[in-house]
Amino acid sequence: MIEDIRCPICGSKTTIPTSKKGPNIGGQFHVCTRYPECKGKVAVESQNGNIVQAADFSERTYTSMAIQASGLVKRYSEEVLAVDGVDLNIEANTVYALLGPNGAGKTTTILILTTLLQPTSGSASVVGLDVVRKASDVRRRIGVTFQEMILDVELTGRQVLDYHGRFYGMKKAQRKAKISELLALVELEEAANRRVSTYSGGMKRRLELARGLMTEPEVLFLDEPTLGLDPQNRASIWDYLRNLKEQRGLTLLLTTHYMDEAEHLADRVGIIDQGHIVVEGTPRELIEQMGSDSIRIAGQGDGEKFIEEVRSLSFVQTVTTGDDLIQIGIDSGNKRLPEIVSVANNCGFVIEDISVTKPSLSDVFLKYTGRQLRDK
Ligand SMILES: Nc1ncnc2c1ncn2[C@@H]1O[C@H](COP(=O)(O)OP(=O)(O)O)[C@@H](O)[C@H]1O
Ligand SMILES: [Mg+2]
Repeated sequence: MIEDIRCPICGSKTTIPTSKKGPNIGGQFHVCTRYPECKGKVAVESQNGNIVQAADFSERTYTSMAIQASGLVKRYSEEVLAVDGVDLNIEANTVYALLGPNGAGKTTTILILTTLLQPTSGSASVVGLDVVRKASDVRRRIGVTFQEMILDVELTGRQVLDYHGRFYGMKKAQRKAKISELLALVELEEAANRRVSTYSGGMKRRLELARGLMTEPEVLFLDEPTLGLDPQNRASIWDYLRNLKEQRGLTLLLTTHYMDEAEHLADRVGIIDQGHIVVEGTPRELIEQMGSDSIRIAGQGDGEKFIEEVRSLSFVQTVTTGDDLIQIGIDSGNKRLPEIVSVANNCGFVIEDISVTKPSLSDVFLKYTGRQLRDK
């Protein structure tokens, strides 16, 4: 602990745990404990635990991109173009979600960014380091958790973490301290000495997360972090992840095919389909363009005429179609429902199913891809 430091931005007296690394802006930086209220714009520089400078590094922090990719392409074979020109600019200390269906190219993108796969063309860098030319430097600065769990279930949770630390050359005392810190973080202290084979799905995910954090990464990549978990376990993983961003200044890139995950967790979302990012923005920006309410209609008859008539209504903001669904974004759903139904009647379009909801990323996905994003 370093005490009695006055944060140069918010002015509050603050203690700084030495484990709290700031966003990657070079050197040893620590964020103010009032981060993120003081907007994460403060970094306190220290060397060997001694404060040498406390200053506002806002510009450096915010112009520093944790992850950049430009024109990334991965072709596995003549037929399979898995990633087809992905560009990314992900600011340090943010959570970015790549949202897309199975086969969209999410895992392939993660494999390239984590240096495990070479791109066919294009370039990418993580914490400013080229993922091909500086692969081993990149590896020292990142953590990864994979979609397919690769835990050795014969080991205990503690051993899994310990082996990982040894693999990365961490000293014994350092491993011990880190392991107890992480077991507490993911609430696995009691189960630490049990074999992983006795863990539930949620516990295994939490252990994976702890392993990804062993080497104090600046950027954490998570491939489908809550795949197959029940809602309660998913919500607890979201809490850990948010915490990591806020308390430790980490940058997180996660992939998901769960819309609610992207909506609740991410600062920015990139919707990926067939190897490219079709639209990007904050969840709120993406959703707001869909109108304040969303009517979804399935039916039979002259859909084209119906859509044309609906488009001409003054209160209709967007109309998108795909997968036999018509999505209408409007100002206020319940009041407008009768009018929409009467337009359908006049066009001879028979409504079989109709619902009014608040728009979600699911409507955004439909708009940009013409398909529904279903959980598989
Ligand atoms: N090792 C591989 N060899 C050949 N094709 C692959 C390989 N890995 C993935 N693919 C194909 O590349 C496409 C993208 O896959 P992937 O990146 O795993 O997508 P996602 O993670 O979004 O489901 C899919 O069509 C998939 O079948
Ligand atoms: Mg995948």
